[in-house]
Amino acid sequence: MAASVRPLVAGNWKMNGLAAAMGEFNGIKAGADKLADKAELMVCPPATLLAQFNWAAKGSKLTLGGQDCHAKVSGAHTGDIAAEMLKDAGASAVIVGHSERRTDHRETDAEVKGKAAAAHRAGLTAIVCVGEQKSQREAGETLAVVGGQLDGSLPDTATAATLVVAYEPVWAIGTGLTPTPADVAEVHAFIRKKLDERYGAEGNGMRILYGGSVKPSNAKELLGLPHVNGALVGGASLKATDFLAIAEVYAGA
Ligand code: PGA
Repeated sequence: MAASVRPLVAGNWKMNGLAAAMGEFNGIKAGADKLADKAELMVCPPATLLAQFNWAAKGSKLTLGGQDCHAKVSGAHTGDIAAEMLKDAGASAVIVGHSERRTDHRETDAEVKGKAAAAHRAGLTAIVCVGEQKSQREAGETLAVVGGQLDGSLPDTATAATLVVAYEPVWAIGTGLTPTPADVAEVHAFIRKKLDERYGAEGNGMRILYGGSVKPSNAKELLGLPHVNGALVGGASLKATDFLAIAEVYAGA
């Protein structure tokens, strides 16, 4: 992997956070600035807080992301949010294809690819999530499943700067369970190979995050593995002290 790749620790707040969360946000912001030369820290709040957080983050190195976007620029799509709107509200990235959206909204690989392409159209980095179900891991299908999701969900427009892949085993999300370090390393090496094959030098510089029950107590082990270039953190990103304790794995890097 290119030596210049800067790790990314992104917090996915999911459907959590009211205006009263500004205190936690400010705590994360202060920590992000201290760690900025070692790693990029990002918060992906609910869309309702993006503009407010963007205002609060002015002058800081903390970056912001959305949690989903529609594939189109605008139109009659009640309740949906365009990538351009996220950009306008201050996001520099957007998560697409999170397993909760693939499950709750039955999003297909083709739809996720359209959303990632929309992110690029809007000038956002697409954080594309992939990961197997428990039954698929038990059946020995993990690499086939992840490979299929990568083939189907990644747009041709991706560059090292505009594509991040997040490997999130579905059974590890919000459960406190994690794969063994060897299993994480195997999947990340596989993803790196796929990115290299498809995108050449650009693929070699793309960041691959691990996500699923990352917490301060397991961050060092998981984030120290080869081809793990950061984390996508759910529950533990809601508390500034926990989120920063995870990102501080990079403090001595
Ligand atoms: P978790 O969620 O850290 O709460 O397991 C991760 C995610 O869904 O991105």
